[in-house]
Amino acid sequence: MTLDVESVRKEFPILSRVIDAMVEFTEHSYAPINRSSYRIAGEATDAYEGARRAIARFVNAPSPDEVIFTKNATESLNLVARSWGATNLGPGDPVVLTAMEHHANIVPWHMLAAERGIELRWIPLTPDGQLDLTDLDRLLDGAKVLSFTAMSNVLGTLPPVAELCAAAHDAGALAVVDACQFVPHNETDVQAWGADLVAFSSHKMCGPSGIGMLWGRMELLDAMPPFLGGGNMIDTVTFDGFTTAPVPAKYEAGTPPIVEAVGLHAAVDFLDDLGMDAVRQHEKQLTRYALDTLNERFGDQITIYGPDDVDVRGGVISFSFRDLHPHDVSQVLDQHNVCVRAGHHCAKPLMSVLGVHATTRASLYLYNDTDDVDSLADALEGATDIFGV
Ligand SMILES: Cc1ncc(COP(=O)(O)O)c(C=O)c1O
Repeated sequence: MTLDVESVRKEFPILSRVIDAMVEFTEHSYAPINRSSYRIAGEATDAYEGARRAIARFVNAPSPDEVIFTKNATESLNLVARSWGATNLGPGDPVVLTAMEHHANIVPWHMLAAERGIELRWIPLTPDGQLDLTDLDRLLDGAKVLSFTAMSNVLGTLPPVAELCAAAHDAGALAVVDACQFVPHNETDVQAWGADLVAFSSHKMCGPSGIGMLWGRMELLDAMPPFLGGGNMIDTVTFDGFTTAPVPAKYEAGTPPIVEAVGLHAAVDFLDDLGMDAVRQHEKQLTRYALDTLNERFGDQITIYGPDDVDVRGGVISFSFRDLHPHDVSQVLDQHNVCVRAGHHCAKPLMSVLGVHATTRASLYLYNDTDDVDSLADALEGATDIFGV
């Protein structure tokens, strides 16, 4: 299966279907959810819950009630650390992370380390940017949590998620997956993974910003304490205390991102129509083309980080180009209308492993084709001309 990129491109800028759905909802059904009996409030509640059902189907969650809407993946991971961590982690308890995590899956655990004295352990990397699992048993010995990315936002690496979840469980640890980069680019099945809690974000999957997701197994979500307190998350409140609403409302304090949920639903429908298998196949072919093109054209002038095997990597391509600063490279590429990100990509510990302060990162998605890769390579030639290196 391949993608018809020409017709996909027509859906941009920027995803007219998503924008249309949000405008339509805002114009005709905009109302607070869950609180009122008037007609459009009912429509708004249906739309919001429809988005929850769509997300549940999209990642093969057993029940929509296990999908919690948050502000973003960062909030989802903080929810896990704060809520599960606060009740289950104490001084010396080991939490295992990997050296390729985004700050969103590092800082919340650092905060718990500072507050509660948990011990952080790190799975190292192989020279080609995969997880080095040689010492996994030792690292997981006594661990309470294994929290790891399903796809590195810097290296593109796709770790063996199901294997890692099984290893976590064998060691008696909770398996938390940061699927922020994985979900937009691959078919996701949280049940096949055997994960406990999975975080991801709308804005990376053609949806609007301002809404993220946490999927969790119901027994866990039932047992964990609420994260934020306020309206919508309670069953009752008295002068003496409160009781919580059932999951998922228990974790959705206050007015949720209703319009964003509608946009997200449209994005999920868009991705469903394309087929995530086709998206992955397209990206695999394009990533192969990009790696070959960049290596052939620039040889030892370019260092591409992460695995070369497209079976174990996705389409984010981070690189160093000659001795140019990534910000300079990105500025020159921008002059050629090639948009790349330069910086540490919120993965400073990984940058230290790579021995750089920053990289330039090109991200391939369903709207890119080989012409875009050629434009990137041509623009890099331009950088050589400008800086005369
Ligand atoms: C792997 C990974 N995890 C977490 C995040 C944080 O996502 P958000 O900005 O939606 O909180 C990102 C975003 O860049 C990411 O790439």
